Amino acid sequence: TDYDGSAGPIRIAVIGGTGLQSLPGFHPLTTLRPSTPWGPPSSPITILSHPSPTSGRAIPIAFLSRHGLHHELAPHEVPSRANIAALRALGARAIVAFSAVGSLREELKPRDFLVPDQIVDRTKGVRPFTFFEGGMVGHVGFAEPFDGVLGAVVRRCGESLVGDGVRLHEEGTLVCMEGPQFSTRAESNMYRAWGGTAINMSALPEAKLAKEAEIAYQMICMSTDYDCWRGTEESVTVEMVMGNMKANSENARRFVGAVLDELSKEEHADLVEAKHLEGMIKGAGAIT
Ligand code: ADE
Repeated sequence: TDYDGSAGPIRIAVIGGTGLQSLPGFHPLTTLRPSTPWGPPSSPITILSHPSPTSGRAIPIAFLSRHGLHHELAPHEVPSRANIAALRALGARAIVAFSAVGSLREELKPRDFLVPDQIVDRTKGVRPFTFFEGGMVGHVGFAEPFDGVLGAVVRRCGESLVGDGVRLHEEGTLVCMEGPQFSTRAESNMYRAWGGTAINMSALPEAKLAKEAEIAYQMICMSTDYDCWRGTEESVTVEMVMGNMKANSENARRFVGAVLDELSKEEHADLVEAKHLEGMIKGAGAIT
């Protein structure tokens, strides 16, 4: 990589999803095109400079667009191993990842934000989903798919925007399906019966790989539709997803801004270095 390190080590990364392909309003320092043993990541990685609200010091942030710069990668084509390995190699220890989701609950309305705490895996095993293979065996606990420490900070930041145009749901179960087709109505109803709160195609294997790489990972979801459980006319379409995402992208950017402000405070130094995860996973060193 050719980041000269002058702004310090890069600990914090943002993965943008559908509708959040860039982070305008942040000062770009450089753009990197890293290669990894798993190929190139989804997009060039932009290093942004973010002033810490407490010290005024500029903190470097890595930004990666999950579906490519022009949304050219379908969910099953996203090179998640390359993405996570590239961010980890830059030094990232905390990832805040964005995703558009379909709502499985009446109260989770289009344009509401959800900070999920659980995942149900409905991918089909076609995506490469682990770093631990080919002679390196490892099993990580995945009972808590998101990082509780990072999640608490993200929730507090979301709360600070509530009432100011942002609606927030602080817990929920995310069903991650394979796609790229949306669900059948029977599936959508089944996910509701299972207790699902929302559905997307992007939480996995990203969350699993972050866990294997000892990176604190939390997803922030924005609801764009009611999937198809509510009735025929309202079934999800790409236009619905894109339209709501675009209409609410300003709030998404405010949410990231609040999270980056908070994470760049000195008091979170241990969190953004993922001190609480260090050494948890034997063998993870092999992918740094
Ligand atoms: N992403 C946004 N809306 C979705 C839906 N209804 N199903 C799966 N992924 C989605």
